[in-house]
Amino acid sequence: MGFFSWLKRLFLWHKKPLLEYEHEIFSPDNRIGLKIQLKGGQVFYSVKKDGKLLVDDSALGLALRSEKPILKNLSLVRAREKEFDETWETVWGEAKIIRNHYREITLYISETTAEKRLLTVRFRAFNDGVAFRYEIPPQPAFQNLTISEELSEFKIDNNSIAWHIPAYQPDRYEYNYTPSPVYELTHSVHTPLTIETPTGHFLSLHEAALYNYGSMTLRLNRNHALMSDITPLSDGMKAYVELPFNTPWRVIMIADTAMDLTVNRMLLNLNDPPREDFSWVKPLKFMGIWWAMFVGEWTWAPGERHGATTAHAKEYIDACNRLGIDGLLIEGWNNGWEGDWLQNGNTTNFTQPMDDFDMDTVSEYAKKCGVSLVGHHETVGFIDNYERQLEEAYQYYANHGVHYIKPGYAGSMMTIQGRKEYHHSQIGVLHYQKTVELAAKYHICLDIHEPIKGTGIERTFPNLLTREGARGQEYEGGALSPSHTTIIPFTRLLSGGMDYTSGIFDVTNFTKRIATTLARQLAYYVTIFSAMQMAADRPRFYEKEFPAAYKFIRDVPVSWEETVPLLGRIGEYYVVARKERDGEDWFIGGVTNEDARRVRLNLNFLDDGVSYEAEIYRDGDTAHYRDNQLAIMIETRKVSKRDFLDIWMAAGGGFAVRLKRLQP
Ligand code: NOJ
Ligand code: CA
Repeated sequence: MGFFSWLKRLFLWHKKPLLEYEHEIFSPDNRIGLKIQLKGGQVFYSVKKDGKLLVDDSALGLALRSEKPILKNLSLVRAREKEFDETWETVWGEAKIIRNHYREITLYISETTAEKRLLTVRFRAFNDGVAFRYEIPPQPAFQNLTISEELSEFKIDNNSIAWHIPAYQPDRYEYNYTPSPVYELTHSVHTPLTIETPTGHFLSLHEAALYNYGSMTLRLNRNHALMSDITPLSDGMKAYVELPFNTPWRVIMIADTAMDLTVNRMLLNLNDPPREDFSWVKPLKFMGIWWAMFVGEWTWAPGERHGATTAHAKEYIDACNRLGIDGLLIEGWNNGWEGDWLQNGNTTNFTQPMDDFDMDTVSEYAKKCGVSLVGHHETVGFIDNYERQLEEAYQYYANHGVHYIKPGYAGSMMTIQGRKEYHHSQIGVLHYQKTVELAAKYHICLDIHEPIKGTGIERTFPNLLTREGARGQEYEGGALSPSHTTIIPFTRLLSGGMDYTSGIFDVTNFTKRIATTLARQLAYYVTIFSAMQMAADRPRFYEKEFPAAYKFIRDVPVSWEETVPLLGRIGEYYVVARKERDGEDWFIGGVTNEDARRVRLNLNFLDDGVSYEAEIYRDGDTAHYRDNQLAIMIETRKVSKRDFLDIWMAAGGGFAVRLKRLQP
């Protein structure tokens, strides 16, 4: 190709801005087409896969406070295309090596009216979906902007089925998913919003690289398109920004099957590589002075049954050693848990232990035993109180050799300078970001509970090891059904790992009965990825009650070399295989909903010419999540890649397999 035609292809220069424009870019495998149009002064995009329309002409724009929206009277100054292809290595995760390959087109847009405001829209087409974001360049007319709404449409066939949880509700993100046709989404719902189209495609709408902006929810507009509804601040505005400013990426994951969606890597690829060295970050399996409080044996609050005492901490540290668990979470150690702790958010202290908890003794003992403590900060969302103490609180833990913290933000709203703000608002987003960056400074890893949604920023900040951000096991005892954990692999987990707090073996507990079989608790370590994985029950259930089943929790890793999606249907069942990071063994986890079923697993993902010993933990033949939870079968078999594995799952049950490579 000659220099000039190359230049022409790269830069479509125009003497005069174009008022009409149409161009289609394709994913590297040419299967996804992303068409960009400028018509009647407005920008639209549409998406096809294999020639089938998935997203119909959808308008783009931004609404501003006390100004006209940047939406109409637009002209194209120039368009620029490029292709990008790199392969990078994760610090931890579901896959060690990730390929980031896309084609990109950037539209440089100017208004035709007197204001002549400038806007850039950057689009990318990957093999597994498309993404776009707004970039507001510096411009003579203004240095900052108040965004009152983002006007991004996603015009999906309204007869598609979407799995959704409601936005703006008291329990933030912690809801059960409901499937319903898109035409019913007249109230805002959270993303990732996973959608099955009448063409049989699977999409998930979400965002990547959420910084300094409200988080996106979605709602149908009058145009029958899903439209961005950015979480507002208490004054109704969506974001106050200084220029230049880039919005988060708007992401449409696209897959031929629901299982293919589960290995979509767009979010990580749309985030930047780390800017500093994070090789100190280590994924962790941990126990906790924790579930004993949920079942009422112990309390967070001081008193007779106080959980976080020096004595209990030492006992649990010993148990960690015996059980081969590297970390220990201690909740309820600091002042602030007296009485109704949900009301104490303004006075909670993050450096003052209660009288019966000696931080020096506990941290020295943990160090001696080689156990990493996981600190705990329950902020109840009182951000002023927390931010005032933040640096000191992290320093305090770092000084005691604590390099993991689980912060929590219980309560339906955050309280900031007397105002109530959504966790997912710009102020919330800024706060969480502050904690991640400050934690990195002290070499502290985070497991954030009641967080904002994951948007792949753990690529840039790998010390953000995991987060909650969905209904987790703490809701057992009535508010969880088996189908929930057959839905989240296709919805919530697309946004990154989750601390589900797996491994509750006391499933028949009268106070907090668990709606699963015992075997299914093991499956979660594979089906629910988390770089901090909890063995959430009390040690006696692992050591005394079910030591044989516990062996799987001891053996299962928390970071993976690769992930192979095996079988699944949203809300029915999910089976996945993962290979240990820098190891030779494979692990499989499977869960089913309220229906028992048998699955036949093709083991052709295993290495060639190698035998494996399969250690199978499955439901006993009469198991049932309601009345026979403890029936479990543990058996071993020799298998190779030519074999199939037939496994039966009880209603509300599941299984876990370790495939131990045998030396040839
Ligand atoms: C809610 C968290 O999800 C849970 O793990 C924690 O124990 C409580 N808040 C108390 O902080
Ligand atoms: Ca929670």
